[in-house]
Amino acid sequence: MRIGVLTGGGDCPGLNAVIRAVVRKGVQDHGHDFIGFRDGWRGPLRGSVVPLGIPAVRGILPRGGTILGSSRTNPFKEPDGVRRIEENLAAYEVDALIAIGGEDTLGVAARLGDEYGIRCVGVPKTIDNDLSATDYTFGFDTAVNIATEAIDRLHTTAESHMRVLVVEVMGRHAGWIALHSGLAGGANVILIPERRFDLDAVCGWVTSRFRASYAPIVVVAEGAMPQDGDLVLKDSTALDSFGHVRLSGVGEWLAKEIEARTGKEARTTVLGHVQRGGTPSAFDRWLATRFGLHAMDAVRDGDFGKMVALRGTEVVRVPLAEATARLKTVPLPLYEEAQVFFG
Ligand code: F6P
Repeated sequence: MRIGVLTGGGDCPGLNAVIRAVVRKGVQDHGHDFIGFRDGWRGPLRGSVVPLGIPAVRGILPRGGTILGSSRTNPFKEPDGVRRIEENLAAYEVDALIAIGGEDTLGVAARLGDEYGIRCVGVPKTIDNDLSATDYTFGFDTAVNIATEAIDRLHTTAESHMRVLVVEVMGRHAGWIALHSGLAGGANVILIPERRFDLDAVCGWVTSRFRASYAPIVVVAEGAMPQDGDLVLKDSTALDSFGHVRLSGVGEWLAKEIEARTGKEARTTVLGHVQRGGTPSAFDRWLATRFGLHAMDAVRDGDFGKMVALRGTEVVRVPLAEATARLKTVPLPLYEEAQVFFG
């Protein structure tokens, strides 16, 4: 059997660990042949491929990024997209595809399977941890560790200057990174997309923190919104091919508002792509490797249209369509638990 592998969407630490596990198990246990498609769905669309065998995956377990490249290409938005994919899969004699991606990449895999019979197995990835059907996605743990380390460092400089430091972390629709890193790093305010924030309350927490003679750290997810406003963006015109706007801007805006309202100096650190780069944590390597092994088992069983998922400590298979149907956001009671530390 010849299996195609692709990685789509925003990159994330652990992608290479999945590729390695898939190839090692597929070649060693089943004698399969592999081909790598470059840059997400752009690879099968354009027939852009790289050889993928055991030599290609040696040494990549701890490497960040993806050896296959990634993009946010949406084949359903390309002229003749599906037909071109079908032709390229036939030309390279690909029997099945393993698609490693988030909501968008796996949404495409689900449609290609359901509507066109293309045999796909999905592996969930995203630092945002917002895919339903799996307890965790790999990449998230690494991002939380990076954000927590940044918050730890910002505490000491904030205290030295007695200023407010706002930390903007990733999280488009879900505040998982903000909540976990904010709790782990002892932030004084955590703002997430799931709950619109009240600027007066934020300023109240900031002021009470100063009253206790400490400097406040405010962690804000890039998708968080004020009660009486919309997404705060630096550039509202930049869209990717899935129609998502390019986020970032709320941290800067928040620091200005806090400074104007409280009279305290406020600065912003935007962590941005630092959260996605570099070597994966041990947990992410472990999870990504197990996902890769189980994705290979699904292909062996002919169990297509499925995504591997973590449930407790078990890796299970769930229908791709179900897994991509809705996002996993932070439940409000979980967010409210953290509020005892605000202010
Ligand atoms: O979806 C993962 C993610 O890291 C989001 O948190 C973020 O908004 C987005 O990707 C950024 O994507 P890009 O690097 O394509 O601008």
